Amino acid sequence: MNAQKTIKLLSGNDMPIIGIGTWELTHQTAELVAKALELGFRMVDTSGDYGTQPGVGDGIRASKLPREQVFLTTKVEETDDTYQATREDLDELAMQYVDLMLLHRPPEHGYGRELWEGLIRARNDGLAKDIGVSNYAVNQIQALIDATGVVPAVNQIEWTPFGHDMEMLEYCQAHDIVIQAYSPLTRAERLANPVLQGIADGYDKTPSQILLRWNIQLGVVPIVKAGSPEHLAEDIDIFDFKLTDTDMEALNTMNEDYSALGSTLAYAR
Ligand SMILES: NC(=O)c1ccc[n+]([C@@H]2O[C@H](COP(=O)([O-])OP(=O)(O)OC[C@H]3O[C@@H](n4cnc5c(N)ncnc54)[C@H](OP(=O)(O)O)[C@@H]3O)[C@@H](O)[C@H]2O)c1
Repeated sequence: MNAQKTIKLLSGNDMPIIGIGTWELTHQTAELVAKALELGFRMVDTSGDYGTQPGVGDGIRASKLPREQVFLTTKVEETDDTYQATREDLDELAMQYVDLMLLHRPPEHGYGRELWEGLIRARNDGLAKDIGVSNYAVNQIQALIDATGVVPAVNQIEWTPFGHDMEMLEYCQAHDIVIQAYSPLTRAERLANPVLQGIADGYDKTPSQILLRWNIQLGVVPIVKAGSPEHLAEDIDIFDFKLTDTDMEALNTMNEDYSALGSTLAYAR
């Protein structure tokens, strides 16, 4: 297993089992994206509101990898005309298509049927190979499916041992929806946790590597952000060990609905 191993989406398309995020990576974006691809990462996550789309597009082109070997994800906002915003994202990326277009979050009211229909049209027109959602609760995903018959390929949500929801995982697995874990390192807030550090010591690995490995063994796809090549190299060096069932369970039981971004997990409604 390595970072180029893939998981099947409902469409039959393949998505790498780990990717890099680019939120706040507004300096040297292209260089770091190219470096990540050189190290072996094959998936890059951005968004229309990150300010990193031009650098992400440039970094992918600078890598000289064939476009089809890189899985590119971006996002449109719940306040957007999602079809038009998809076109604008592609312009900023200077790309013909993205592999995955996500609706960044549900709208303030309702579950976003029209927003989703705009993305279905974008997919049908070849602007995105797959479409998905982010920060969606189970009932909101189900409402989208009931209204349109189109199942999101992915729900991208905050997901760590400190904050996750196994009922969400069960629901997604039952519907062939892949969970992408954002802020998988707790934005570095909880890396010094002693239980986590103890588990890491047992494998001669770092807390970051344990958090990423936990995701992968759950079948959840982590999107990790690292602004330094050293961190990138550490974050991809997770394929030479396996967490025991006991350690997986110990990590599962650390759940306290913790969010590094807000007071609660956005999807826990
Ligand atoms: N859909 C959404 O609503 C949403 C929300 C949040 C995030 N995301 C996506 O998910 C991505 C990842 O989440 P995130 O950026 O919030 O946080 P994260 O990946 O949990 O944490 C990033 C932090 O961890 C540090 N780090 C990385 N590797 C490390 C290592 N090996 N050892 C120690 N520290 C390390 C980074 O430091 P350096 O930068 O100094 O290396 C940075 O401070 C985002 O970039 C974005 O693409 C999506």
